[in-house]
Amino acid sequence: MPATLASSRKRSSAPARRAGGRTAAAPRATLRIAVVGGAGHVGLPLSLVLATHGFPVTIIDHDRRKIEALKQKRLPFLEEGAQPLLDALAAPALAFSSSHQDVATADVIILTVGTPLDDHLNPDLTQVYGAIEQIRPSLRDGQVLVLRSTLFPGTSEKIQERLRALGLKVGVSFCPERIAQGKAIKELGELPQLISASDARTLAIVRRVFSAFNREVIELGMVEAELAKLFTNAWRYIKFAVANQFYMTATEKGLDFYRIRDAMMRRYERVADFPAAGFAAGPCLLKDTMQLAAYNRQHFAVGHAAMLLNETLPDFLVEQVKRRRALSGARVGILGMAFKADNDDHRESLAYKLRKLLEYEGATVLCSDPYIADPSFVPAAQALRCDVVFIGCPHTAYRQLSFEGRDVVDCWGLTRQGRAA
Ligand SMILES: NC(=O)c1ccc[n+]([C@@H]2O[C@H](COP(=O)([O-])OP(=O)(O)OC[C@H]3O[C@@H](n4cnc5c(N)ncnc54)[C@H](O)[C@@H]3O)[C@@H](O)[C@H]2O)c1
Repeated sequence: MPATLASSRKRSSAPARRAGGRTAAAPRATLRIAVVGGAGHVGLPLSLVLATHGFPVTIIDHDRRKIEALKQKRLPFLEEGAQPLLDALAAPALAFSSSHQDVATADVIILTVGTPLDDHLNPDLTQVYGAIEQIRPSLRDGQVLVLRSTLFPGTSEKIQERLRALGLKVGVSFCPERIAQGKAIKELGELPQLISASDARTLAIVRRVFSAFNREVIELGMVEAELAKLFTNAWRYIKFAVANQFYMTATEKGLDFYRIRDAMMRRYERVADFPAAGFAAGPCLLKDTMQLAAYNRQHFAVGHAAMLLNETLPDFLVEQVKRRRALSGARVGILGMAFKADNDDHRESLAYKLRKLLEYEGATVLCSDPYIADPSFVPAAQALRCDVVFIGCPHTAYRQLSFEGRDVVDCWGLTRQGRAA
């Protein structure tokens, strides 16, 4: 057993602090952790929580801008509850680096880089394999590589085989992230953690890491854990598609979807998980549904149907407006460009597709978002004065606006009073 792991039985001297919604127990280990991709939406909150629970953590990210911001105690994006943790941590509890060589001193390396789709909706593992290639010269026997990015099923085993073929005795683990973006600090402590590993020793080490901040750790095989993550996201994406289908059906017939939905849901628990309509977007849900489709040789009718419904909601909304007024020459406002409420992330946001469609129709489009710094955006009040106003993202702040007398397109139900959430 490597010295670092042998000495890991000692209790950490770091004080127990609060994170993840409960009091942190003193760590049972002094495993040193490096998080590659650690300045991202998954890597950063996980790093903060692990460091808060006494593991010395080094965040390694090739985005030097984010690393510099973090060194100056500035978060690169909105993350509830993260700022106090960042403020409270200093080296060696939390260190920052742009050098992949720094994995050399870690006992556990956690990989949290992106796993997007390519232009043909196939999984693109370039970032994962690229990062592994960069850390490879610094890896050594006895280390543990935890894959936290969402992976195409079978990838963890393939990575294990590659490392073994290189003669490296590095344990491989897949432990998917399931937080809602922006809520990670709270949810990391609350959501059961799924863990899996290539061998018993690696499993014991990841169990130690994840049970330091969460009471409930569930073991699976690596492919099972990869599928559990994809099933979770595809399930949510399909549910949103059903709500959007019902919204389009009711609206097409001139009926009020939310009036029907409110009546359905009142004191009727069996439909308690019926979501509101809205843009089902962002960097994960469509992407992971398509990863599952690729895994199933594209035999995934319900997943593809969900994509067609969710991705065409902006087109549907534009067509509805065109039935009652010309868009050519009109001034159209979009309130909210982020992909989800009260967040600054605009990755894969359908509000941008909406803008493109409106511009194609010849409208002048004024976009607004309180969380996104874009010099072309206008204040909400200015967007609100346009001929037609779309709610592109239901930020809570918009509930304070008066939509009286405005021509508003609101598939989310944000502007309705007292509808079921
Ligand atoms: N965003 C979420 O809420 C969420 C939730 C669950 C799972 N996931 C999954 O987690 C993974 C990461 O998603 P994210 O939203 O955090 O992405 P992100 O783009 O916010 O973060 C990825 C980070 O990795 C860094 N990076 C990329 N390649 C690197 C390399 N070779 N070396 C060092 N740093 C590198 C990037 O600079 C970036 O900071 C994806 O697989 C995603 O599907 C995301």
